[in-house]
Amino acid sequence: MAEAPALQEDIPHAAHPLEPLCAEEIRAAVAIVRDEQNLDGRALFETVELREPDKAVVRGFAPGQDVAREANVVVIDRTAGRSYAGVVSLSTGRISAWRPIEGGQPHVLGEELEEAERLVKADPDFLAGLRKRGIEDVDQVVVEGFGVGDFGAPEESSMRLLRLHLFYVEAPADNPHVRPIEGLVPVIDLNAMTVMRVEDFGVRPIPPDPGHYRADDQPTLRQALARLDITQPDGPDFTVDGHAVSWQNWSFRVSFNQREGLVLHTLGFRDGGRERPVLYRASLSELVVPYAETDGDHYRNHSFDLGEAGIGNCVNSLALGCDCLGEIHYFDTVMADGHGEPIARPNAICMHEEDYGVLWKHSIARSATTEVRRSRRLVVSSFYTVGNYDYGIFWYLYLDGTIEFEAKLTGVLYCGALDDGETPRWGQIVAPNLNAMIHEHYFNIRLDMSVDGDENAVVEVEADLMPTGPDNPYGNAHGVRETVIESEAQGARDIKPELGRYWKVINPSRANRLGGPTGYRLMPGANIKPMHQPGSPFMKRAPFIAHDLWVTAYDADERFAPGDYVNQNPGGPGLPDWAAADRPLADRDVVLWYTMGVLHIPRPEDFPVMPVEYVGFMLKP
Ligand code: NI
Repeated sequence: MAEAPALQEDIPHAAHPLEPLCAEEIRAAVAIVRDEQNLDGRALFETVELREPDKAVVRGFAPGQDVAREANVVVIDRTAGRSYAGVVSLSTGRISAWRPIEGGQPHVLGEELEEAERLVKADPDFLAGLRKRGIEDVDQVVVEGFGVGDFGAPEESSMRLLRLHLFYVEAPADNPHVRPIEGLVPVIDLNAMTVMRVEDFGVRPIPPDPGHYRADDQPTLRQALARLDITQPDGPDFTVDGHAVSWQNWSFRVSFNQREGLVLHTLGFRDGGRERPVLYRASLSELVVPYAETDGDHYRNHSFDLGEAGIGNCVNSLALGCDCLGEIHYFDTVMADGHGEPIARPNAICMHEEDYGVLWKHSIARSATTEVRRSRRLVVSSFYTVGNYDYGIFWYLYLDGTIEFEAKLTGVLYCGALDDGETPRWGQIVAPNLNAMIHEHYFNIRLDMSVDGDENAVVEVEADLMPTGPDNPYGNAHGVRETVIESEAQGARDIKPELGRYWKVINPSRANRLGGPTGYRLMPGANIKPMHQPGSPFMKRAPFIAHDLWVTAYDADERFAPGDYVNQNPGGPGLPDWAAADRPLADRDVVLWYTMGVLHIPRPEDFPVMPVEYVGFMLKP
């Protein structure tokens, strides 16, 4: 029997309904679940997060009020071979909802990968496979976990599995991902924690270049840059109260969870003394990285970095090195580890101001006057390391009401090994014997809009061209075409750069000073279409990437574009399924789901570490 559930009196009073769970609340939620479900010591906790209250509760909250606190909990009962999702009331100390998870698996936990690594490094078939490749010392082998996906094999739907990919290092601090140990793939039964089999797709040489990128490993360094100081002698312009932030006319809250990482809440703009809501909640919903390589088991490589890895778990503690300059405020996070123990990550979220050049300028030569205003932006960011890849998730707020999302992609390429003289068909050679596989990154951002309130509508806007004729005799006329997206059946939209297409979320019942509806535009940036074929296992699991934008009616339970339990899931229920309900969208609380893709055809210059690539979009008033 586990320890008695903690009572509410033991838990600190939450200062706000959206305050993330504190360590005491995590412990209490875990104790309640262990006690009521009689879990044994092998049970693992995939998720312990705040269950956010209804919007009405959040908006009606007054400081000092009592807040009913609930936690979403996902448990892997390894002994029973089942997983469960539940809701725990921290206020009553009881489980209020509990159900088995069907059709998919919770994501793979770090604790499982560590156990799998210890296990496989004592496995005779694995050791024999290493010897075939000239490796005797298992300490020179680095193990990465990869989801098996769903390719129709019965074991993918009946078992909890993990593939392992292997890399060679001479010393522990080496760069492992540039030296794949090709073709040797252990498959682990995670619930039984046994090596099911070791697949061997054939021996290839270990690429010789160690790809050292750390300063310590360089024979010489370029001349240091001249000093550039960024100081704010009067301190920063923002104020922070717990997780609430105000800066210039902006106000919002930050939070953090294991699956989504950084989340922004209740973002609003003060306009002439009036608080005007813009966005109720903004978060990553999925980040999926499909690969093009067909060799060995690489056809299975498509990672769902939220649904299969829980990107929040991969957050960098910026105490170890921050990429930002200036007067920085850090937010710490607390998350449960796999055993349900709260683990603090100091400095997980970074916030600071940046000078951003010219906001606007105008000169009049006749009167010899020039007016210029500098732009400044507030940056809220966090960095995540998911295996070989490093992602920066950056939100920028500007003085003119613009909101920008930007993802920064860096880290080390995912590579396979090549025979001497072999040319990859679905990759690029970036170092001797090293195949950097072609791949894409698709970020889906969930934007729960609230433009001057919840009753919004979404309008598609693009250039309206007119052929030369009686109404356009000189061929210059072109106007604006606006189309209201009436229901979810029309809610799957695509960018059209040649017509400057964008979408605006309007409030039809709020007028600007000219009488038109107030609104925010979603301005797309660079983007790509899916590269995997329709009907392929990957596209069945990530059908949301088939369109750049989806608009749905708000439902608090619809958080993740590919669905809730993505690991080993054949697909859904997720975005296309929700939109099939064809709910009306005019004068409704609407959610935008915008997908940005990056096609990554690697360059030799991306080895051994990739200079940052950027992708993003803007929301403009
Ligand atoms: Ni890439």
